[in-house]
Amino acid sequence: MEITVTIGDISQFEADAIVLNLLEGTKELNGILSVVDDALDGGISQLITQGEIKGKLGENTLIHSLGKLPATRVVIAGLGKESELTQDRIRGAVAGTCQMLRGKNVKSITTVPQGAGVAGITHEAAAQAIAEGALLGLYTFRRHITKEPEHGEIEKLTIVEADQSNLISLEQGCRKGEVMAKATILARDMVNEPSNYMTPTDMAQEASKVAETYGLSVEVLDKERMEELGMGALLGVARGSHQPPKFIILNYKGRDSDEIDIALVGKAITFDSGGISLKPAANMGEMKGDMSGGAAVIAAMAAIAQLKPVINVMALVPATENLPGGSALKPADILTAMGGKTIEIVSTDAEGRLILADALGYARKHEAKRIVDVATLTGACVVALGTVTTGVFGNNQELVDQVIASGAEAGEKMWQMPIYDEYKEQNKSSVADIKNTGGRNAGAITAALFVGEFAGDTPWVHLDIAGTNMIDKPRKYEVKGATGVPVRTLVNLVTTLAEK
Ligand code: BES
Ligand code: MN
Ligand code: ZN
Repeated sequence: MEITVTIGDISQFEADAIVLNLLEGTKELNGILSVVDDALDGGISQLITQGEIKGKLGENTLIHSLGKLPATRVVIAGLGKESELTQDRIRGAVAGTCQMLRGKNVKSITTVPQGAGVAGITHEAAAQAIAEGALLGLYTFRRHITKEPEHGEIEKLTIVEADQSNLISLEQGCRKGEVMAKATILARDMVNEPSNYMTPTDMAQEASKVAETYGLSVEVLDKERMEELGMGALLGVARGSHQPPKFIILNYKGRDSDEIDIALVGKAITFDSGGISLKPAANMGEMKGDMSGGAAVIAAMAAIAQLKPVINVMALVPATENLPGGSALKPADILTAMGGKTIEIVSTDAEGRLILADALGYARKHEAKRIVDVATLTGACVVALGTVTTGVFGNNQELVDQVIASGAEAGEKMWQMPIYDEYKEQNKSSVADIKNTGGRNAGAITAALFVGEFAGDTPWVHLDIAGTNMIDKPRKYEVKGATGVPVRTLVNLVTTLAEK
């Protein structure tokens, strides 16, 4: 879909649909609403009087213009109460309207800068929300469906603004929204692919494609190189599979220095069977999504490379399958991670923290100034926070706050969990430096603390996205399947750090 901004009188534009907004409780129609109402011989005000149009958030009323306007249809899209309007509500409203119009086989839409000027929302923020809401809400994953879809695709969305002085901010917001949404879609595509189409080698190829397209440097370490570096934890997990593991490194250089201002680390288990500690058969297929952290990090780098913040970013993606092959890791085995710490394996299903240990070891070896890791790490986090909220853990409150604020800006909900020292007791091993599970109690916390051991004193934040990476029912601008969380949070974080 092509999204553009133009100056003019929206009532004079040809389109399959014009989308206008109504705030809940609006009594008097003014501006463009009254112009279009007049053209429709008072059709809109009549529907309001009759109570069919209320302006509630998510309400979409379709009116056929029957030759009274150059556009074939008018949609009155409710934005809810003025005092409650947010950028994220605009994303959701736009997604809902676009989905409805796609169902009517609409190809071209014109709309106003929805929500701009309301509740402190700038034209730039509104345009960004429109672009993100439309692109993310209309996302489908049909790569493996050979049958044609029942609906066509919306080809054009034009934001029409009356005031020339708002053009530049609208265009900037629109472009940023497109970059953000397309990166999110890249992550969704990778996560939605089943593991036979998204092996560690395929992930490395995706990363290389991103690097080539947007001008990043890329390096993919193979097994031999991992052995030289002493990545015993990652190699331990990889032993049960015939697919070769890959350690993917992307570098973005936004300022003239060799310092790494932030390392983004993403867990990429391209399929998690549990290994010898095999998972139950029911819903095991969901574990194709156990590479969501890695996908988010690679996709965020695509957006960062386009937005060009003044900051240096290194992305690290340890990628492997976790399978119970003949050479597989077994409970009670002991591994040595990069940097020398030994780990007792209690469950081979607690593999995410193992591959993260080596990735954090690599980040520290390269003296990254901050580390943010993203992982579908624990079922316990899903129990605690469901599919709505990502769990946040960290050793540095300033960085934690920055991540949560970046999430809020993206509409990606996050909640900080405690990592008090007392919990560390549960990770103590009698035969090695640490063990890889701390029991059922506080499972998300002990997993985070395990990862934190390998961050040392580097400011570090861990995002547990086990619940938020995929959903089985559509929600606002998210559709069934991969959500692309937390791509937009990571991009916001990096751009705000760069501005400081
Ligand atoms: N990939 C899983 C975590 C997960 C669970 C992600 C549900 C998405 C949905 C992780 O590797 C895992 O298996 N964790 C175990 C840890 C346990 C063995 C200590 C878990 O949470 O059960
Ligand atoms: Mn597992
Ligand atoms: Zn896993």
